[in-house]
Amino acid sequence: MADLQTQMKQAVALAATDQVKNGMVLGLGSGSTAALMIQEVGARLRDGRLSDIVGVTTSFQGEVLAAELGIPLQSLNAIDRIDLAIDGADEVDPAFELIKGGGACHVQEKLVARRAERFVVVVDSTKLVERLNLGFLLPVEVLAGAWRQVQAELQQLGGSADLRMAQRKAGPVVTDQGNLVLDVSFAGGINDPAGLEATINNIPGVLENGLFVGLADQVLVGEINDGVAGVRDLPRA
Ligand code: 5RP
Repeated sequence: MADLQTQMKQAVALAATDQVKNGMVLGLGSGSTAALMIQEVGARLRDGRLSDIVGVTTSFQGEVLAAELGIPLQSLNAIDRIDLAIDGADEVDPAFELIKGGGACHVQEKLVARRAERFVVVVDSTKLVERLNLGFLLPVEVLAGAWRQVQAELQQLGGSADLRMAQRKAGPVVTDQGNLVLDVSFAGGINDPAGLEATINNIPGVLENGLFVGLADQVLVGEINDGVAGVRDLPRA
């Protein structure tokens, strides 16, 4: 039996996959919850419950997984629309503002979410917060040659920023685009997500930050009630 968090992720991934219809161009998110959704899409294509799906991935992780499952893929440049995108998040506040980028995939994730007609977020209940950045650091993707300059500018904004280091590899995490990631903490959390998203993206050398504001159409939350995993459609505050 999977642990409770995995059960919540599985429940929410299945519920989101129920929104996928034949013929859709589907944005495929990144991370462990999105991976469960991609596996479910692959299974439904295999047994005929779904057909004619084209996936648009948001990471190398998704590309490898979709290829293994035989899900046809197209690049952002090759498609004229994305009907639905499904992706996880690291934090979700009551206004559906998100922190993403725990897997350092937020550049492509934001492109796909922005392009999608409908963006559905799939999280377990541990991701719900009242205020962003009190628990999870804000990822900022930066050009390798500019990381110290960006770090200093983030410091001037009141953020304490550390270079994300790799595990089982010497040195920093290198993103799918070949850049680095600064993880930033603002004392007291983030009180103006929309303003901060724009301000950080205006720093030279920044590719994208993990604040997703005004993008999520629906947040599905996996939770455990009386020992059983279920899914709640979160009302927006
Ligand atoms: C990757 C992401 C992920 O969606 C986020 O980190 C959530 O991952 P998980 O579902 O494994 O908790 O933003 O960049």
